[in-house]
Amino acid sequence: MIKAQGVRIRVPASTANLGPGFDTLGMALSLYAWIEMKPAEQTKFYLYGEELKGIPQDKSNLVYKLAQRVFEEAGVSVPELEISMASEIPLTRGLGSSASAIVGALYAANELIGAPLSADKLFDMAAAIEKHPDNVGASLFGGIISAVWDGERAHYLRIEPPKELRALAAVPSFWLATEQARSILPETFSMEDTVYNVSRAALLTGAFAAGRLDLIAEAMKDRIHQPYRAPLIPGMDRILKEAVNHGALGAALSGAGPTLLALTSRSSDRCSELEAFISDVLGEHGIEAKMLWLDPSSEGVRCLLSHEQAPFNAGSLV
Ligand code: HSE
Repeated sequence: MIKAQGVRIRVPASTANLGPGFDTLGMALSLYAWIEMKPAEQTKFYLYGEELKGIPQDKSNLVYKLAQRVFEEAGVSVPELEISMASEIPLTRGLGSSASAIVGALYAANELIGAPLSADKLFDMAAAIEKHPDNVGASLFGGIISAVWDGERAHYLRIEPPKELRALAAVPSFWLATEQARSILPETFSMEDTVYNVSRAALLTGAFAAGRLDLIAEAMKDRIHQPYRAPLIPGMDRILKEAVNHGALGAALSGAGPTLLALTSRSSDRCSELEAFISDVLGEHGIEAKMLWLDPSSEGVRCLLSHEQAPFNAGSLV
């Protein structure tokens, strides 16, 4: 049944890889995007805020196109839509903005027609579109996600983030496209580097599940993507090596970058020291970065409750 009044959803940002879990480990973060979708006479868009500048406002819009895929899959026709969107997730910075758009679009469209598709089906579709399941899994289910995609089906385990965990995202002012950051990775790896990563990804997953924050420093180390991507983010090497000396539990490149993510403990009294260290090192390389203190988001995508507002009027229309 199509909901004539439409639906409003909120979807979290995410960080992928978490160091050694390349294309595997994701975590939802407390930065959000909002989508409202309604059946309409004629398709139109209302996009609010700087982060959505330049996004197509016709039927080539990704959210529109993915909504149509859901309708097709469910055998329902809703050709014209009114779509409103707002986002506080920085674009093309390694915080899963495209994954949140994919998950938000699939989820909103499915809710609009009475949710005929299961969450697992939406995950399969989202992973097939994004091609790796770590960001989309986190945006869909919230928390920490360990995921596998076999090219058709996505499988996952959700871990509730330890309550003590907090994250500092250093978001550089420059963009880095995922394709560019992937194109510089080697196609094969030595046995030694493979074991290095597999063992740490397993340890990190277990450490999150068991709340063993003391293991994170060793478990977040990586040899299969960060060292190759380091030249793209000057200062990153030093930050990843030394953040633990300035109060971080561990640090990693967020997804394909350029954002750097340091995990800390909520009770740490060294937050300002950590922030200053990361900001200074990037500054030495002439890189300005926005420093965002974030919480893991236990919630994944969901419909807004009747009393909750989406910030559609907080920013100007773009
Ligand atoms: N895991 C991806 C990468 C990021 O590092 O290239 C987006 O999922």
